[in-house]
Amino acid sequence: MDRRTIVALPGDGIGALVLKEAIRVLDAAGFDAEYVYGDIGWDFWCKEGNPLPQRTIDLIAKYKIALFGAITSKPKDEAVAELSPELQGKGFNYSSPIVGLRQHFGLDICVRPCHSYKGNPLNFIRRGKDGTPEEPMVDVVIFRQNTEGLYGGVEWSNPPQQVYDALMTHPKFRENFGWCPKEELAVSTRIFTWKYTERIVRAAFEYALKNGYKSVTVCETPNVIRETSGLMWKIAKEMQKKDFPGVQLWNTNIDAQMMWLTKNPEDYGVIVAGNMFGDIVSDAFAGLIGGLGFACSAQFSEDGVGVFEPTHGSAPKYADYKVSIVNPVAMIESACMMLDYINEKNIAARIRKAIADVIEEGRVKTYDMMKLSGRQEVIDMGAASTTEMTDEIIARLK
Ligand code: NAI
Ligand code: MG
Repeated sequence: MDRRTIVALPGDGIGALVLKEAIRVLDAAGFDAEYVYGDIGWDFWCKEGNPLPQRTIDLIAKYKIALFGAITSKPKDEAVAELSPELQGKGFNYSSPIVGLRQHFGLDICVRPCHSYKGNPLNFIRRGKDGTPEEPMVDVVIFRQNTEGLYGGVEWSNPPQQVYDALMTHPKFRENFGWCPKEELAVSTRIFTWKYTERIVRAAFEYALKNGYKSVTVCETPNVIRETSGLMWKIAKEMQKKDFPGVQLWNTNIDAQMMWLTKNPEDYGVIVAGNMFGDIVSDAFAGLIGGLGFACSAQFSEDGVGVFEPTHGSAPKYADYKVSIVNPVAMIESACMMLDYINEKNIAARIRKAIADVIEEGRVKTYDMMKLSGRQEVIDMGAASTTEMTDEIIARLK
């Protein structure tokens, strides 16, 4: 096995804490890698006026694979106020380095698996037909288009005249919004391109086929959002017929999906959706398998850049505890997605088995798994610290 170089992006708050733990697990599992550390996050905004410095972009461009903790983002005004005094008033504008990374590297494919671990006290429970509790095992992988749609950033308040004039050429706009003064209008666009819609749908089908999932569900709203959701549905129908006849294609609307996922989550396999619906539906499924302490994700680009990160943020209120309480599993699982991506599937499988064994045994649990609210005292109440949880996972590695 060749020694790999991985870009480690600790970021802010608990991002740095959980990243450290994930690297400990990777080392213990025998993954031979060197980690080069990249600057990203709030400190670099405050000190340099840029939360994603060019040197970090260069590192990722060079090594292609990054493990990322989490960053802190704040609203515009607060961001400006925290800028160091010598940078104030020089026209620096805060924008999220995560969105920046996605856009710069074209990380258009986002994968968010949600698998229940046996014995996780946070697993979703429902009442069965005869009233007895049932614990459906969720095994869903969400493919979210990561660069377009409602989060594409093409939006205006008081749009420029040309945009307004163009909108007025649409009969629905004229009829339903023509009454509104231009300066009172806010418009956010939802742009889907054929190329990147095709890519996310194909990635979903390929994953389903390779990993034995029986269905791909397009979770959009093509009956209402006819052009964009309609495009994804049309592409999926044609692709299934031509290239993936052995995988079933299902169609759910996002609203109905949010209802069904608590009724029959075990029925779903691979789900594909646009940017915002993919974000929503993946958070909802994550809630069924234990929430933010368990939700991992991967993002890939066309030319092979991969960024692997937990879904959770920097949880600043827990960042400075003397003994860290947060659950490292989401970050460690994200590292496993990285291993899969670079074809170190055996190491990934061993780490996942170790996590599964710790959870099933149930002796060592972080505070979230004990259903406590987060505070330093949880350690005295028997919760495992971030480090103890990681130690236990390492001890179970075979
Ligand atoms: P958050 O995900 O940081 O924390 C929300 C709550 O979830 C925490 O208070 C905690 O109760 C729980 N939680 C999060 N991670 C956990 C873990 N590993 N184990 C156990 N419990 C965990 O979201 P919040 O508080 O809305 O945002 C905090 C900061 O993070 C903000 O500045 C926000 O902009 C940023 N953020 C960054 C993200 C990223 O880097 N990808 C994603 C989401 C938020
Ligand atoms: Mg989200």
